[in-house]
Amino acid sequence: MTSRDNNENGDLAAGRALVAAEARADESTVEAALRPRSLAELIGQSRVRDQLGLVLEAARSRGRPPDHVLLSGPPGLGKTTLAMIIATELNAPLRVTSGPAIQHAGDLAAILSSLTEGEVLFLDEIHRMSRPAEEMLYMAMEDFRVDVVVGKGPGATAIPLEIPPFTLVGATTRSGLLPGPLRDRFGFTAHLEYYEVDELEQIVLRSAKLLDVPVTREGAREIASRSRGTPRIANRLLRRVRDYAQVRGDGVVRLETARAALALYEVDEEGLDRLDRAVLDALCRRFNGGPVGLGTLAVAVGEERETVEEVAEPFLVRKGFLARTPRGRVATQAAWRQLGLTAPADAAAPTEPTLFDVEDPDDGR
Ligand SMILES: Nc1ncnc2c1ncn2[C@@H]1O[C@H](COP(=O)(O)OP(=O)(O)OP(=O)(O)O)[C@@H](O)[C@H]1O
Ligand SMILES: [Mg+2]
Repeated sequence: MTSRDNNENGDLAAGRALVAAEARADESTVEAALRPRSLAELIGQSRVRDQLGLVLEAARSRGRPPDHVLLSGPPGLGKTTLAMIIATELNAPLRVTSGPAIQHAGDLAAILSSLTEGEVLFLDEIHRMSRPAEEMLYMAMEDFRVDVVVGKGPGATAIPLEIPPFTLVGATTRSGLLPGPLRDRFGFTAHLEYYEVDELEQIVLRSAKLLDVPVTREGAREIASRSRGTPRIANRLLRRVRDYAQVRGDGVVRLETARAALALYEVDEEGLDRLDRAVLDALCRRFNGGPVGLGTLAVAVGEERETVEEVAEPFLVRKGFLARTPRGRVATQAAWRQLGLTAPADAAAPTEPTLFDVEDPDDGR
């Protein structure tokens, strides 16, 4: 078992998950209940919504399945939600599978050959599909045909198989890992962006209504502003604040309730949690702002290297608190300010993080 496996079963799944963008195993039911069902119901992502609306409308008027759609973006921003909306808007059946579930080309052939005309095939985590399956998918996407190889060695023959026209909806958190030929076969790519606080506030108000939780606008806004631009986190914080309101308050999620509850769960005004702050603190106070290697930093905060890299760092980089440089991790001026400390004169400027893309955590180790 690798340390990453340990991580997923341990830290990530346990107490650390409150502001983690990844879904927790026990969240699927509540997430399904909170999913917008149509483009009109979707909050935020206005550009994607407009573009996709057009693609679907045009396909409907032609009476043919639309181009294949690739949804890319960080976890918890609505890729699965959008895939379901696409099927609903097309009034088409939806088949759901994922990259890790398709290890052999035969797995994919079985799915493809059982599709009905116009069906939407949602392939989640498409970057984790095996190479042979990927090659079969190219052909299916382009020509609606696959070659099924029967037999082995010199006697093997490829039997061509027609597939009814379908729409592939691929989702990935790592579009950079997709091979060019696969990416090119999508007629439309939607990049989901982090949400604004106003949008998250709308999402919290909507979710509260669905969950039958009384909430004030100020309470919703407080939750929204600590949610790291991510609807999944907003919905999760709302449920924790609701618990607090029911047990220690009058059941209403208000500004003060939200503040008190999130203080209890150690999620601060910026959405940083205990680990995020520990990383910044170690970086500034113990290593004088860096540069310091990831391994050393992880030891200093008593966490696995992967937890620091995959859970804490992406958000710290996005907030401009931390930069990944070829020589190691560096605190920016904003990080020093966040801790209420004075930055040394040579502290990294806040613009630096964008040089080192969060998409590729292997950069600048
Ligand atoms: N635009 C939105 N409006 C309202 N709720 C949203 C929106 N986007 C996402 N959500 C909510 O956030 C939760 C997570 O969304 P979703 O599962 O679609 O994310 P994802 O991008 O597929 O994440 P992952 O990469 O982990 O698969 C869902 O429960 C959904 O209700
Ligand atoms: Mg998803």
